[in-house]
Amino acid sequence: MQYFSGRFKEKASNSILEFHSTIQFEDKLAYYDIMGSIAHVRGLGKQGIVTVEEAELIEKTLREILEDIESKKIKFSIEYEDIHMNVEKNLIDRIGDIGKKLHTGRSRNDQCALDLKLYIKDEIKKVQSYLMELIEILIKMAKENVKTYMPGFTHLQKAQPISFAHYLLAYVEMFKRDYKRLENTFELTNYSPLGSAALAGTSYPLDMEYTSKVLGFKGPIANSLDGVSDRDHVMSFISDLSIIMVHLSRFCEEIVVYSSNDFSYIELSDKFSTGSSIMPQKKNPDAAELIRGKSGRVFGDMMSILTTMKGIPLAYNKDMQEDKEALFDAIDTVKKCIDVFNGMISTTKPLKENMLKACHDGFINATDVADYLTNKGMSFRDAYKIVGSIVAYCIDNKKTLDNLSMEEYKTYSELFENDIYEEISIEKCVEKRTTIGGPSEKSINSHIESVDKFIEKEVENLKSYKLNDIF
Ligand code: ARG
Repeated sequence: MQYFSGRFKEKASNSILEFHSTIQFEDKLAYYDIMGSIAHVRGLGKQGIVTVEEAELIEKTLREILEDIESKKIKFSIEYEDIHMNVEKNLIDRIGDIGKKLHTGRSRNDQCALDLKLYIKDEIKKVQSYLMELIEILIKMAKENVKTYMPGFTHLQKAQPISFAHYLLAYVEMFKRDYKRLENTFELTNYSPLGSAALAGTSYPLDMEYTSKVLGFKGPIANSLDGVSDRDHVMSFISDLSIIMVHLSRFCEEIVVYSSNDFSYIELSDKFSTGSSIMPQKKNPDAAELIRGKSGRVFGDMMSILTTMKGIPLAYNKDMQEDKEALFDAIDTVKKCIDVFNGMISTTKPLKENMLKACHDGFINATDVADYLTNKGMSFRDAYKIVGSIVAYCIDNKKTLDNLSMEEYKTYSELFENDIYEEISIEKCVEKRTTIGGPSEKSINSHIESVDKFIEKEVENLKSYKLNDIF
């Protein structure tokens, strides 16, 4: 390879070129690579390391190269290993010796760290936009289902009644945290490694404050060894993505269960379901299953980057170029999964009557019978025990707490009066739960109000986001 030509007597073998190179899968970094080069060369010009005319010519040519890359006029070659050297080779082919000045005071080590940070910042904003769309869909559905009562579960056993809005808002909170977690990763990523050079900084008088500002970073990194060997942004981003997949996967599991014949709490749209090749009656929730399945892939990407990073000494080591495929795969997978999920959930119909019907078995209001006695002066533990016996009686006699006669109730406690039936109605059970984050209309409405504010603020933030002003 001509770049290393001074030191090497023999040409690299084709198999090693192929093995070393990343150019086959990193064309999406060209935009960021050229952005970084433009900031670098502006810095070189500003500091008099190259002349202003040279800097301008290099910038102009880099812009032309980007256009040609985008219109697919440039073919990359594994002979130049990666995006950095392919771009530089193109520059030198076009403007000769002046092009050879671009790499002054720079190394591919700070370049590849920089490219990935710029790319990650943009991708974080894209994933946040997908999440925002999801949160908006869920809030709209929640508003329409404040009084859609359904069983809440623990251990997948009916536990206490809630509303569909309450259920959806649980996921809204998870996705809000995901959104904020991404914001934290953005914050930690927001320091420019440019100027770290190979590992020890450089003797050229680079103005790192200036280049970091041009690129839209908060400031330069504080240590050059860390600048080139840090991949926390990759690990942190994939970790955020993995947690998103955990949340999507749990949601999908419930979609599979709730859309099954036996539950029938929701109905998926035909557009997001599939049939069976042999069983004509089937309508399968394949999309939900596939999202659940794809979580495994993203967790694999997580393990891959952690394992790559865990044993390598400072500073740059070639192992680190294994960061890219895992990262790209995780990002592509998660974006696709949220997008499909958004289509699926927004076309899903809650089957309100079935949900309500399901509240009428499983002794879902048993806690409320105990609370009834407690409110009339009995200790909760005594009340709990009595209601346990009442439930056992109901099971033996095929009755429910709603249709047990007053006589029967009275055999357990004199405290029971006719108001018990009203007190344990499903609506009352839900509407009584007015604690913060509870299922009552009152609690739900104030939750929805706070989420609406979050949405309003963050939609504005997303709209005003711009990586920098280079392009
Ligand atoms: N293509 C490499 C990567 O992605 C960058 C090369 C870094 N430097 C080196 N000495 N090999 O990590």
